[in-house]
Amino acid sequence: MLVITTVKELQESVRKVKADGKSVGLVPTMGALHNGHLSLIKRARKENDVVVCSIFVNPVQFNNPEDLRKYPRTLDRDVEFIHDYADIVFAPSAEEVFPVPPTETYHYGVVEQVMEGAARPGHFNGVGVIVRRLLDWVQPDRAYFGEKDYQQIAVIRELVRQCNISTTIVPCPIVREDSGLALSSRNRLLTAHELEITPNIYRILQESKNQPDVPEIKHFVETEIAKYPEFQLDYFEVTDDTTLQP
Ligand code: PAF
Repeated sequence: MLVITTVKELQESVRKVKADGKSVGLVPTMGALHNGHLSLIKRARKENDVVVCSIFVNPVQFNNPEDLRKYPRTLDRDVEFIHDYADIVFAPSAEEVFPVPPTETYHYGVVEQVMEGAARPGHFNGVGVIVRRLLDWVQPDRAYFGEKDYQQIAVIRELVRQCNISTTIVPCPIVREDSGLALSSRNRLLTAHELEITPNIYRILQESKNQPDVPEIKHFVETEIAKYPEFQLDYFEVTDDTTLQP
């Protein structure tokens, strides 16, 4: 496995691979890798000759400086974790990716105006900025994203459509702990007590399926979540799976 840190090396490595007629799969990540990321990398491995995994905590997609400061950074461990599955790891510095502050702006229409788009202003623009650059540099045949961030996939699909990018976006299923907790890099920040109670989120979602209609489902989830003083619900929505409208 090759670990590289510059855009020039990345482009050269990919150019060589493509000159040999090989297909390339890209798995963009922000590191603190877990089995959810590994499932994307393994899928990319199956469907492409060469797998590139990027590891970059993208500052421009954080609208909360404290969240950026606390985001787990475990590069050495990450490299070891995916050693047998990825061919190229691209782990650049912020200066390498953004030699000057980025000024691009993206508009994704209705899919960005709800949920995370409404709750985290600028977040999806920052995602678009980094994903567009990675797709430009690697020009992969396929790029892999986890359905845990379902709205992010909708936004990236729209980005790819608007910019006529030929990469196929491949959504991959959520991977969960046995407890039902969805794997996430930020789970490392949870206390023992929080880890104990968070599986209730999945349990409540599963149980909500027994409710007869959308208003009852919303009421059920909001009421059940409110039983845990540790949880603070930002939003719960039932939406169309393409437009993401309620
Ligand atoms: O899903 C993530 O980890 C990030 O949003 C991504 C796609 C790697 C862009 O920084």
